[in-house]
Amino acid sequence: MARHLITSAIPYINGIKHLGNLVGSQLPADLYARYLRQRGHEVLFLCATDEHGTPAELAAAKAGKPVAEYCAEMWGVQAKLAEGFRLSFDHFGRSSSEQNKRLTQHFAKVLDDNGLIREVSEKQMYSHADGRFLPDRYIEGTCPNCGFDSARGDQCDNCTKQLDPVDLINPHSTISGSTDLEMRETKHLYLRQSVMKDQIEEWIDTREGWPVLTTSIAKKWLNDGDGLQDRGITRDLDWGVPVQKGDAPWPGMEGKVFYVWFDAPIEYIACAQEWVDAGKGDNWERWWRTDKGAADVRYTQFMGKDNVPFHTLSFPVTILGSNEPWKLVDYIKSFNYLNYDGGQFSTSRGRGVFMDQALEILPADYWRWWLLSHAPESSDAEFTWENFQTSVNKDLADVLGNFASRVTKFCRSKFSEAVPEGGAYGPLEEKFIADLTAKIREYEAHMEAIEVRKAAAALRAAWVLGNEYLQEAAPWSTFKTDPDTAAMQIRLGLNLIALYAVISEPFIPDACADLRSCLNAGADWPDDVPAALERLAPGHAFTVPEVTFRKITDAEREEWQARFAGVRT
Ligand code: MF3
Ligand code: ZN
Repeated sequence: MARHLITSAIPYINGIKHLGNLVGSQLPADLYARYLRQRGHEVLFLCATDEHGTPAELAAAKAGKPVAEYCAEMWGVQAKLAEGFRLSFDHFGRSSSEQNKRLTQHFAKVLDDNGLIREVSEKQMYSHADGRFLPDRYIEGTCPNCGFDSARGDQCDNCTKQLDPVDLINPHSTISGSTDLEMRETKHLYLRQSVMKDQIEEWIDTREGWPVLTTSIAKKWLNDGDGLQDRGITRDLDWGVPVQKGDAPWPGMEGKVFYVWFDAPIEYIACAQEWVDAGKGDNWERWWRTDKGAADVRYTQFMGKDNVPFHTLSFPVTILGSNEPWKLVDYIKSFNYLNYDGGQFSTSRGRGVFMDQALEILPADYWRWWLLSHAPESSDAEFTWENFQTSVNKDLADVLGNFASRVTKFCRSKFSEAVPEGGAYGPLEEKFIADLTAKIREYEAHMEAIEVRKAAAALRAAWVLGNEYLQEAAPWSTFKTDPDTAAMQIRLGLNLIALYAVISEPFIPDACADLRSCLNAGADWPDDVPAALERLAPGHAFTVPEVTFRKITDAEREEWQARFAGVRT
């Protein structure tokens, strides 16, 4: 038994996330957390909303609400959707918490004490019409790199280049549209990442077995010179963590806040404090302080590929630069993008399926299964309705659901709603159990390695083995000549449903809970597969499950395809 800290990249507060966001961090993190808990490990699984920065301010303005009120409301919406998808966070925190504010100010102080912060006087875009500076997304203009005409101040959405507002050609304010802008002197704090380049590079180079996607992005940033330049960590905004040196004011920095990407990852730690303060745990330091027990915690982070530079470079600079015994990440699992039906998911254009809409049309398990079994691991992946329909109808309805229904219904009609006795296993059963054992061990290995697609394929293969066994054993014809053998086959079949309802739990938790409850079966992991297949003894009562998975019709598929192609209203 080990201790595992797991965090998912914390979703921006502005708006409901689409399925591409979900499969890039929160969902695979949940898969891993559930699996490790089932294997008896102690797990702390944390996520939160990322509430600061210009996206939150702009979304609140658009909704016509004060930003604090908007964030509180959207946190509630996101928390409820997370529950709907059965994301089993131990705590779903908020980066705007008191805990995160204090911790962020603490890190700024120690980084400053260690000589890693410098004050820079620089010129920033100031808007006369708006009476304020225009950081990041408050300004748009033409991208100097690709010519795209609505590049934002912090990044071009077309070519993904990171930008500085002053780089933009023909800039204008996104608040008022005004072009009456002036470069005005303002003071900011810079984190001296450059002095830690060697230390960070060595750390990256010594990580063993990290996914290529993670290390290649990190190395690219380090070597292109872009990555470890000193970075501005403050902004002229109202909403955010006020710039302070711990509890003390920071002279010259009045009225400024920390940059959202400085405080957001610190929320991973603050979230553990929130978890304790919410009365759900009693000691966060044993998860986060290596001097207080966290040295033997294994810490895994999940995120989309666009988040990798912040987690491999910037956040480690904060942690290592503090010179305090904070836990560093042990493994970073990153994902490519999921595309939608021949294009991209788009939050701004409402293209694709969003978390709330998905749950309106089908239960969480259907989505979880498709998303995880098609996780964009080695390359980008694409959601199409045809593919979704095929996967659900084949894997879930025809293979798993049908197996459960056939076995239980046959038993009820020929024997009773209790496990029949029957004779001893024959060679067919011995071979089947050996094959199944090998498949389950393979499944476990993929889950340990967080190879999500491979794990899904092994699980599906374990379901298929059961179907093939049933097809070959054919208890419905055996019954006519040899009811005793048919009884044994059905006894095995019922036990197999119970076993599937345990090992499939990380992917499809609701269906598994339902099947276990129909079978009055326990949730222990099948370490010993032959023994697990005898847990439901002769005479053990069960009820026939309702339809475990239904099929998606062609008419539904067409309707949904049309409905989600357009603009979300
Ligand atoms: N909100 C960011 C995104 O959705 C992720 C922040 S992760 C953290 O891309 F490390 F900053 F917490
Ligand atoms: Zn561009």
